Amino acid sequence: MSVVCIEFKPGLEGVPATQSSISYVDGQKGVLEYRGINIRELAKSSSFLETAYLLIWGNLPTREELENFEHDIRYHRRIKYRIRDMMKCFPETGHPMDALQASAAALGLFYSRRALDNPEYIRTAVVRLLAKIPTMVAAFELMRKGNDALQPRDDLDYAANFLYMLNEQEPDELAAQVFDVCLTLHAEHTINASTFSAMVTSSTLTDPYAVIASAVGTLAGPLHGGANEDVISMLSEIGSIENVRPYLDKCLQTKAKIMGFGHRVYKVKDPRAIILQELAEKLFDKFGYDKYYEIALELEKAVEEKLGGKGIYPNVDFYSGLVYRKLGISSDLFTPVFAIARVAGWLAHWKEQLATNRIFRPTQIYTGEHDVSYTPIQER
Ligand code: ACO
Repeated sequence: MSVVCIEFKPGLEGVPATQSSISYVDGQKGVLEYRGINIRELAKSSSFLETAYLLIWGNLPTREELENFEHDIRYHRRIKYRIRDMMKCFPETGHPMDALQASAAALGLFYSRRALDNPEYIRTAVVRLLAKIPTMVAAFELMRKGNDALQPRDDLDYAANFLYMLNEQEPDELAAQVFDVCLTLHAEHTINASTFSAMVTSSTLTDPYAVIASAVGTLAGPLHGGANEDVISMLSEIGSIENVRPYLDKCLQTKAKIMGFGHRVYKVKDPRAIILQELAEKLFDKFGYDKYYEIALELEKAVEEKLGGKGIYPNVDFYSGLVYRKLGISSDLFTPVFAIARVAGWLAHWKEQLATNRIFRPTQIYTGEHDVSYTPIQER
Protein backbone atom coordinates (compact mmCIF):
# COMPACT_ATOMS: atom_id res chain seq x y z
CA MET A 1 0.00 0.00 0.00
CA SER A 2 1.38 3.40 -0.88
CA VAL A 3 0.81 6.18 1.67
CA VAL A 4 1.15 9.78 0.55
CA CYS A 5 1.99 12.37 3.21
CA ILE A 6 0.68 15.63 1.80
CA GLU A 7 2.23 17.98 4.33
CA PHE A 8 5.55 19.23 3.01
CA LYS A 9 8.23 19.85 5.67
CA PRO A 10 11.17 21.78 4.25
CA GLY A 11 14.40 20.16 5.40
CA LEU A 12 12.23 17.22 6.58
CA GLU A 13 12.11 18.96 9.97
CA GLY A 14 10.54 16.66 12.53
CA VAL A 15 9.87 13.89 9.98
CA PRO A 16 11.11 10.52 11.32
CA ALA A 17 13.24 8.83 8.66
CA THR A 18 13.98 5.67 10.60
CA GLN A 19 13.74 3.85 13.91
CA SER A 20 17.10 3.74 15.61
CA SER A 21 18.59 2.72 18.96
CA ILE A 22 22.03 4.19 18.30
CA SER A 23 21.89 7.67 19.79
CA TYR A 24 19.47 10.09 21.39
CA VAL A 25 19.34 13.86 21.60
CA ASP A 26 17.17 15.97 23.90
CA GLY A 27 17.54 19.39 22.32
CA GLN A 28 15.73 21.23 25.12
CA LYS A 29 17.77 19.74 27.95
CA GLY A 30 21.05 19.54 26.04
CA VAL A 31 21.42 15.78 26.42
CA LEU A 32 23.24 13.45 24.03
CA GLU A 33 23.42 9.70 24.63
CA TYR A 34 25.10 6.94 22.66
CA ARG A 35 23.25 3.65 23.21
CA GLY A 36 21.75 5.24 26.33
CA ILE A 37 25.06 6.34 27.86
CA ASN A 38 25.52 10.07 28.42
CA ILE A 39 28.18 11.63 26.21
CA ARG A 40 29.85 13.24 29.23
CA GLU A 41 30.38 9.83 30.80
CA LEU A 42 31.81 8.42 27.58
CA ALA A 43 34.08 11.45 27.14
CA LYS A 44 35.39 10.91 30.66
CA SER A 45 35.70 7.15 30.82
CA SER A 46 35.69 5.60 27.35
CA SER A 47 38.02 5.74 24.35
CA PHE A 48 37.06 6.49 20.76
CA LEU A 49 37.47 2.88 19.62
CA GLU A 50 35.51 1.51 22.57
CA THR A 51 32.78 4.06 21.77
CA ALA A 52 32.85 3.09 18.10
CA TYR A 53 32.37 -0.55 19.11
CA LEU A 54 29.48 0.46 21.37
CA LEU A 55 27.81 2.42 18.58
CA ILE A 56 28.26 -0.24 15.92
CA TRP A 57 27.57 -3.41 17.91
CA GLY A 58 25.19 -1.92 20.46
CA ASN A 59 27.02 -2.93 23.64
CA LEU A 60 30.25 -2.08 25.43
CA PRO A 61 32.89 -4.65 24.47
CA THR A 62 34.42 -7.05 26.94
CA ARG A 63 38.16 -6.55 27.47
CA GLU A 64 38.89 -9.33 24.98
CA GLU A 65 36.49 -7.96 22.34
CA LEU A 66 38.02 -4.50 22.68
CA GLU A 67 41.57 -5.83 22.46
CA ASN A 68 40.73 -7.78 19.31
CA PHE A 69 38.98 -4.78 17.75
CA GLU A 70 41.87 -2.43 18.57
CA HIS A 71 44.38 -4.98 17.34
CA ASP A 72 42.61 -5.46 14.00
CA ILE A 73 42.30 -1.72 13.44
CA ARG A 74 45.96 -1.16 14.34
CA TYR A 75 47.05 -3.66 11.66
CA HIS A 76 44.73 -2.38 8.93
CA ARG A 77 45.93 1.23 9.07
CA ARG A 78 48.20 0.99 6.06
CA ILE A 79 46.81 1.99 2.68
CA LYS A 80 47.76 0.37 -0.60
CA TYR A 81 50.46 2.10 -2.60
CA ARG A 82 48.04 2.43 -5.51
CA ILE A 83 45.77 4.53 -3.29
CA ARG A 84 48.74 6.66 -2.24
CA ASP A 85 49.75 7.02 -5.90
CA MET A 86 46.22 8.02 -6.81
CA MET A 87 46.23 10.61 -4.01
CA LYS A 88 49.54 12.03 -5.23
CA CYS A 89 47.70 13.04 -8.42
CA PHE A 90 45.14 15.10 -6.51
CA PRO A 91 45.77 18.85 -6.90
CA GLU A 92 47.43 20.24 -3.75
CA THR A 93 44.96 23.13 -3.91
CA GLY A 94 42.01 20.76 -3.62
CA HIS A 95 40.05 20.71 -0.36
CA PRO A 96 40.99 17.80 1.93
CA MET A 97 37.31 16.84 2.24
CA ASP A 98 37.16 16.33 -1.53
CA ALA A 99 40.37 14.30 -1.33
CA LEU A 100 38.86 12.22 1.46
CA GLN A 101 35.62 11.63 -0.40
CA ALA A 102 37.51 10.44 -3.49
CA SER A 103 39.88 8.24 -1.45
CA ALA A 104 37.07 6.68 0.59
CA ALA A 105 35.19 5.84 -2.61
CA ALA A 106 38.41 4.40 -4.09
CA LEU A 107 38.58 1.84 -1.27
CA GLY A 108 35.58 0.22 -2.93
CA LEU A 109 37.74 -0.54 -5.96
CA PHE A 110 39.97 -2.69 -3.80
CA TYR A 111 37.65 -4.26 -1.27
CA SER A 112 34.07 -4.31 -2.50
CA ARG A 113 32.44 -7.72 -2.58
CA ARG A 114 29.10 -6.61 -1.22
CA ALA A 115 28.64 -9.67 0.93
CA LEU A 116 26.24 -7.69 3.03
CA ASP A 117 24.66 -10.74 4.66
CA ASN A 118 28.03 -11.97 5.92
CA PRO A 119 28.87 -10.71 9.46
CA GLU A 120 32.59 -11.21 8.76
CA TYR A 121 32.37 -8.93 5.68
CA ILE A 122 30.61 -6.29 7.82
CA ARG A 123 33.24 -6.52 10.56
CA THR A 124 36.13 -6.32 8.13
CA ALA A 125 34.61 -3.31 6.34
CA VAL A 126 34.14 -1.57 9.71
CA VAL A 127 37.75 -2.30 10.68
CA ARG A 128 39.13 -1.17 7.32
CA LEU A 129 37.20 2.09 7.24
CA LEU A 130 37.98 3.05 10.83
CA ALA A 131 41.62 2.10 10.29
CA LYS A 132 42.29 3.65 6.87
CA ILE A 133 40.33 6.92 6.85
CA PRO A 134 42.77 8.65 9.29
CA THR A 135 45.73 7.40 7.26
CA MET A 136 44.23 8.89 4.10
CA VAL A 137 43.53 12.25 5.75
CA ALA A 138 47.10 12.47 7.06
CA ALA A 139 48.58 11.24 3.76
CA PHE A 140 46.86 13.98 1.76
CA GLU A 141 48.06 16.61 4.24
CA LEU A 142 51.72 15.59 3.79
CA MET A 143 51.45 15.01 0.06
CA ARG A 144 49.95 18.41 -0.65
CA LYS A 145 53.00 19.90 1.07
CA GLY A 146 55.16 17.91 -1.33
CA ASN A 147 56.23 15.30 1.23
CA ASP A 148 55.85 11.55 1.32
CA ALA A 149 53.10 10.19 3.54
CA LEU A 150 54.26 8.56 6.78
CA GLN A 151 53.53 4.92 7.50
CA PRO A 152 51.32 4.39 10.54
CA ARG A 153 53.13 3.52 13.79
CA ASP A 154 51.91 0.21 15.20
CA ASP A 155 53.14 1.13 18.68
CA LEU A 156 50.86 4.17 18.89
CA ASP A 157 47.19 4.21 19.80
CA TYR A 158 44.54 5.41 17.36
CA ALA A 159 44.52 9.12 18.25
CA ALA A 160 48.28 9.39 18.86
CA ASN A 161 49.05 7.63 15.59
CA PHE A 162 46.87 10.05 13.61
CA LEU A 163 48.56 13.10 15.17
CA TYR A 164 51.94 11.49 14.49
CA MET A 165 51.12 10.83 10.82
CA LEU A 166 49.83 14.40 10.47
CA ASN A 167 52.46 16.40 12.31
CA GLU A 168 55.43 14.07 11.68
CA GLN A 169 56.21 13.83 15.37
CA GLU A 170 54.98 11.79 18.27
CA PRO A 171 52.31 13.84 20.05
CA ASP A 172 52.31 14.95 23.65
CA GLU A 173 50.28 12.58 25.86
CA LEU A 174 47.67 15.23 26.77
CA ALA A 175 47.28 16.23 23.12
CA ALA A 176 46.61 12.61 22.11
CA GLN A 177 44.20 12.11 24.99
CA VAL A 178 42.27 15.31 24.15
CA PHE A 179 42.12 14.33 20.48
CA ASP A 180 40.72 10.93 21.40
CA VAL A 181 37.95 12.63 23.41
CA CYS A 182 37.22 14.91 20.42
CA LEU A 183 36.73 11.81 18.29
CA THR A 184 34.33 10.35 20.85
CA LEU A 185 32.33 13.59 20.94
CA HIS A 186 32.00 13.67 17.14
CA ALA A 187 31.35 9.96 16.64
CA GLU A 188 27.57 10.03 16.26
CA HIS A 189 24.61 12.38 16.30
CA THR A 190 21.31 10.76 15.24
CA ILE A 191 19.85 11.43 11.79
CA ASN A 192 21.63 14.56 10.61
CA ALA A 193 22.28 15.37 6.94
CA SER A 194 25.38 13.21 6.46
CA THR A 195 23.96 10.25 8.39
CA PHE A 196 20.78 10.46 6.36
CA SER A 197 22.92 10.52 3.24
CA ALA A 198 24.75 7.40 4.48
CA MET A 199 21.43 5.67 5.14
CA VAL A 200 19.96 6.53 1.74
CA THR A 201 23.09 5.19 0.06
CA SER A 202 23.08 2.09 2.30
CA SER A 203 19.46 1.40 1.46
CA THR A 204 20.40 0.62 -2.15
CA LEU A 205 22.65 -2.19 -0.82
CA THR A 206 25.74 -0.68 -2.40
CA ASP A 207 29.15 -1.21 -0.79
CA PRO A 208 30.12 0.46 2.52
CA TYR A 209 32.88 2.52 0.88
CA ALA A 210 30.27 4.24 -1.32
CA VAL A 211 28.17 4.76 1.82
CA ILE A 212 31.01 6.52 3.62
CA ALA A 213 32.03 8.51 0.54
CA SER A 214 28.51 9.88 0.13
CA ALA A 215 28.35 10.81 3.80
CA VAL A 216 31.75 12.57 3.60
CA GLY A 217 30.47 14.63 0.67
CA THR A 218 27.42 15.65 2.67
CA LEU A 219 29.39 16.49 5.82
CA ALA A 220 31.59 18.87 3.83
CA GLY A 221 28.99 21.64 3.44
CA PRO A 222 29.21 24.82 5.55
CA LEU A 223 25.76 24.30 7.07
CA HIS A 224 26.95 20.94 8.44
CA GLY A 225 30.48 19.78 9.33
CA GLY A 226 32.13 22.49 7.25
CA ALA A 227 31.11 25.11 9.82
CA ASN A 228 34.09 24.37 12.11
CA GLU A 229 36.50 25.69 9.48
CA ASP A 230 34.34 28.78 8.92
CA VAL A 231 34.31 29.53 12.66
CA ILE A 232 38.07 30.09 12.65
CA SER A 233 37.85 32.33 9.54
CA MET A 234 35.11 34.28 11.31
CA LEU A 235 37.15 34.70 14.53
CA SER A 236 40.10 35.82 12.43
CA GLU A 237 37.92 38.31 10.54
CA ILE A 238 36.54 39.71 13.81
CA GLY A 239 40.15 40.12 14.98
CA SER A 240 39.56 41.68 18.40
CA ILE A 241 37.07 41.77 21.29
CA GLU A 242 36.02 45.34 20.37
CA ASN A 243 34.90 44.18 16.94
CA VAL A 244 32.65 41.39 18.22
CA ARG A 245 29.45 43.38 18.69
CA PRO A 246 29.76 45.46 15.49
CA TYR A 247 30.41 42.18 13.60
CA LEU A 248 27.38 40.53 15.15
CA ASP A 249 25.17 43.56 14.44
CA LYS A 250 26.25 43.49 10.82
CA CYS A 251 25.41 39.78 10.56
CA LEU A 252 22.02 40.36 12.09
CA GLN A 253 21.29 43.27 9.73
CA THR A 254 22.28 41.27 6.67
CA LYS A 255 20.69 38.05 8.00
CA ALA A 256 24.03 36.27 7.72
CA LYS A 257 24.39 33.15 9.84
CA ILE A 258 26.94 33.22 12.65
CA MET A 259 29.01 30.13 12.11
CA GLY A 260 29.12 27.60 14.94
CA PHE A 261 25.77 28.74 16.34
CA GLY A 262 22.31 27.29 16.04
CA HIS A 263 21.11 23.75 15.58
CA ARG A 264 18.02 22.07 14.20
CA VAL A 265 17.59 20.08 17.42
CA TYR A 266 19.47 21.82 20.26
CA LYS A 267 17.80 24.92 21.62
CA VAL A 268 20.41 25.21 24.39
CA LYS A 269 24.21 25.03 24.30
CA ASP A 270 25.28 21.80 22.64
CA PRO A 271 26.63 19.42 25.34
CA ARG A 272 29.58 18.65 23.07
CA ALA A 273 30.44 22.35 22.85
CA ILE A 274 30.58 22.49 26.65
CA ILE A 275 33.06 19.59 26.79
CA LEU A 276 35.10 20.92 23.84
CA GLN A 277 35.41 24.27 25.59
CA GLU A 278 36.77 22.48 28.69
CA LEU A 279 39.23 20.58 26.50
CA ALA A 280 40.38 23.82 24.84
CA GLU A 281 41.05 25.33 28.26
CA LYS A 282 43.06 22.25 29.29
CA LEU A 283 45.21 22.67 26.19
CA PHE A 284 45.62 26.41 26.76
CA ASP A 285 46.82 25.70 30.33
CA LYS A 286 49.53 23.39 29.03
CA PHE A 287 50.49 24.85 25.66
CA GLY A 288 49.58 28.54 25.93
CA TYR A 289 46.63 30.77 25.24
CA ASP A 290 44.90 31.40 21.91
CA LYS A 291 43.77 34.98 21.36
CA TYR A 292 40.81 33.72 19.34
CA TYR A 293 39.43 32.20 22.53
CA GLU A 294 38.65 35.54 24.14
CA ILE A 295 36.94 36.65 20.91
CA ALA A 296 34.94 33.40 20.94
CA LEU A 297 33.87 33.94 24.57
CA GLU A 298 32.73 37.49 23.84
CA LEU A 299 30.88 36.32 20.73
CA GLU A 300 29.11 33.60 22.67
CA LYS A 301 28.00 36.21 25.25
CA ALA A 302 26.80 38.64 22.58
CA VAL A 303 24.94 35.95 20.58
CA GLU A 304 23.26 34.69 23.73
CA GLU A 305 22.04 38.22 24.52
CA LYS A 306 20.67 38.81 21.04
CA LEU A 307 19.62 35.34 19.87
CA GLY A 308 19.33 33.24 23.04
CA GLY A 309 15.57 33.86 22.98
CA LYS A 310 15.44 32.03 19.63
CA GLY A 311 17.36 29.09 21.05
CA ILE A 312 20.59 29.94 19.24
CA TYR A 313 23.65 28.80 21.19
CA PRO A 314 27.07 27.37 20.31
CA ASN A 315 26.97 24.04 18.51
CA VAL A 316 29.69 21.37 18.32
CA ASP A 317 31.58 23.30 15.66
CA PHE A 318 32.08 26.47 17.69
CA TYR A 319 34.88 25.36 20.04
CA SER A 320 36.25 22.34 18.17
CA GLY A 321 38.41 24.49 15.88
CA LEU A 322 40.11 26.11 18.86
CA VAL A 323 41.01 22.66 20.17
CA TYR A 324 42.27 21.49 16.78
CA ARG A 325 44.40 24.61 16.30
CA LYS A 326 46.24 23.82 19.53
CA LEU A 327 46.80 20.27 18.30
CA GLY A 328 48.56 21.63 15.21
CA ILE A 329 45.74 20.74 12.82
CA SER A 330 45.26 23.18 9.96
CA SER A 331 41.80 24.66 9.58
CA ASP A 332 40.85 22.98 6.32
CA LEU A 333 41.46 19.63 8.06
CA PHE A 334 38.89 20.28 10.79
CA THR A 335 36.06 18.76 8.77
CA PRO A 336 38.08 15.69 7.65
CA VAL A 337 38.93 15.17 11.33
CA PHE A 338 35.22 15.36 12.11
CA ALA A 339 34.69 12.73 9.38
CA ILE A 340 37.30 10.39 10.94
CA ALA A 341 35.15 10.31 14.06
CA ARG A 342 31.78 10.24 12.35
CA VAL A 343 32.73 7.14 10.34
CA ALA A 344 31.81 5.26 13.54
CA GLY A 345 28.27 6.67 13.57
CA TRP A 346 27.79 6.27 9.82
CA LEU A 347 28.85 2.62 10.06
CA ALA A 348 26.52 2.05 13.01
CA HIS A 349 23.62 3.37 10.91
CA TRP A 350 24.77 1.35 7.90
CA LYS A 351 24.68 -1.83 9.97
CA GLU A 352 21.35 -0.93 11.56
CA GLN A 353 19.87 -0.04 8.16
CA LEU A 354 20.92 -3.38 6.66
CA ALA A 355 19.10 -5.31 9.38
CA THR A 356 15.67 -4.03 8.31
CA ASN A 357 16.45 -2.54 4.93
CA ARG A 358 13.94 -1.00 2.59
CA ILE A 359 15.17 1.30 -0.16
CA PHE A 360 14.52 4.99 0.52
CA ARG A 361 12.09 6.29 -2.05
CA PRO A 362 10.21 9.32 -0.72
CA THR A 363 7.62 11.16 -2.69
CA GLN A 364 7.36 14.75 -3.91
CA ILE A 365 4.69 17.37 -4.31
CA TYR A 366 4.79 18.17 -8.00
CA THR A 367 4.57 21.92 -8.70
CA GLY A 368 5.16 21.85 -12.47
CA GLU A 369 2.81 21.90 -15.46
CA HIS A 370 1.18 19.05 -17.43
CA ASP A 371 0.59 18.36 -21.12
CA VAL A 372 3.03 21.03 -22.30
CA SER A 373 3.70 20.78 -26.03
CA TYR A 374 7.25 20.53 -27.31
CA THR A 375 8.53 23.72 -28.99
CA PRO A 376 11.00 23.09 -31.84
CA ILE A 377 14.36 24.77 -31.21
CA GLN A 378 14.01 27.27 -34.11
CA GLU A 379 10.78 28.58 -32.56
CA ARG A 380 12.13 29.25 -29.05
N1 ACO B 1 23.13 32.76 13.17
C1 ACO B 1 22.07 33.62 13.13
N2 ACO B 1 20.78 33.22 13.09
C2 ACO B 1 20.58 31.91 13.07
C3 ACO B 1 21.61 30.97 13.11
C4 ACO B 1 22.93 31.45 13.16
N3 ACO B 1 23.98 30.58 13.20
N4 ACO B 1 21.09 29.73 13.07
C5 ACO B 1 19.77 29.89 13.00
N5 ACO B 1 19.45 31.20 13.00
C6 ACO B 1 18.09 31.78 12.96
C7 ACO B 1 17.62 31.84 11.50
O1 ACO B 1 17.96 33.06 10.91
C8 ACO B 1 16.13 31.66 11.68
O2 ACO B 1 15.60 32.87 12.14
P1 ACO B 1 14.13 33.38 11.66
O3 ACO B 1 13.19 32.33 12.17
O4 ACO B 1 13.97 34.68 12.32
O5 ACO B 1 14.21 33.43 10.17
C9 ACO B 1 16.01 30.68 12.85
O6 ACO B 1 17.20 30.88 13.62
C10 ACO B 1 15.93 29.23 12.41
O7 ACO B 1 17.07 29.00 11.55
P2 ACO B 1 17.10 27.93 10.38
O8 ACO B 1 18.23 28.24 9.49
O9 ACO B 1 15.73 27.81 9.80
O10 ACO B 1 17.39 26.62 11.24
P3 ACO B 1 17.74 25.22 10.67
O11 ACO B 1 17.31 24.26 11.71
O12 ACO B 1 17.22 25.04 9.29
O13 ACO B 1 19.33 25.26 10.54
C11 ACO B 1 21.60 25.25 11.09
C12 ACO B 1 20.20 24.78 11.50
C13 ACO B 1 21.85 24.89 9.63
C14 ACO B 1 22.62 24.53 11.95
C15 ACO B 1 21.69 26.77 11.30
O14 ACO B 1 21.54 27.06 12.66
C16 ACO B 1 22.97 27.35 10.76
O15 ACO B 1 23.06 27.64 9.57
N6 ACO B 1 24.02 27.54 11.63
C17 ACO B 1 25.28 28.05 11.17
C18 ACO B 1 26.09 26.96 10.53
C19 ACO B 1 26.59 25.95 11.54
O16 ACO B 1 27.12 26.29 12.58
N7 ACO B 1 26.43 24.66 11.19
C20 ACO B 1 26.88 23.56 12.01
C21 ACO B 1 25.72 22.87 12.65
S1 ACO B 1 26.26 21.54 13.69
C22 ACO B 1 26.63 20.32 12.58
O17 ACO B 1 26.06 20.18 11.54
C23 ACO B 1 27.74 19.46 12.89
